[in-house]
Amino acid sequence: MTKQVIIVLGSPRKNGNCAILAEQAAAGVRACGARAETIYLHGLTMAPCNACESCQTATETDCMIDDELTALLPRLRQADALLIASPVYWFTFSAQTKLFLDRAFFALNGPQGHALKGKPIGLIMAFGDADPFTSGAVNALHAFQDICRFIEAPVAGMVYGSAFGAGDIQKQPDLLQEAYQLGRKLGSD
Ligand SMILES: Cc1cc2nc3c(=O)[nH]c(=O)nc-3n(C[C@H](O)[C@H](O)[C@H](O)COP(=O)(O)O)c2cc1C
Repeated sequence: MTKQVIIVLGSPRKNGNCAILAEQAAAGVRACGARAETIYLHGLTMAPCNACESCQTATETDCMIDDELTALLPRLRQADALLIASPVYWFTFSAQTKLFLDRAFFALNGPQGHALKGKPIGLIMAFGDADPFTSGAVNALHAFQDICRFIEAPVAGMVYGSAFGAGDIQKQPDLLQEAYQLGRKLGSD
């Protein structure tokens, strides 16, 4: 069966640096004969997790919140691998990405069991500062590793680089190639 990779884009910029790297990764996924589907978070109506914890005990639905993100959660169950692409905002993930991660709490124990256990997950990040430490990218990279360890999902790879203006990442062909290779890994693992 054709493998399916879900790419979650957490930048509001549809043509920004994360989107460009994510598209490279999608090309890598497709080169393996797998399917890549991108979820553009910023365009969705989505409420933050309200801590009802129904997702941990519910028998029928993954999330009790009724919005456009809930409708997409089953795709994470169907996916073979996941790629999260986020800019660094205020020294960590963008708010859109963090909201998605909170809502992905369902993955631990929804009605059909653990949604992401054992599925490879990759990360793409862009940040404006020249350095991953002073930019705060390291905070998000550490959080990502902690999340993967906690949900028992293998880290497929982390591709990150400095670029400020939308599209500036195009000037870094090595990084574009890294993103492509991450896509290949996700599409074939
Ligand atoms: C609200 C906001 C907060 C930001 N905070 C940071 C930051 O803490 N560290 C940093 O290095 N860059 C920061 N940036 C710059 C972005 O990370 C940078 O422009 C990145 O390339 C955006 O990626 P995108 O084009 O995929 O949206 C911030 C940008 C915005 C709009």
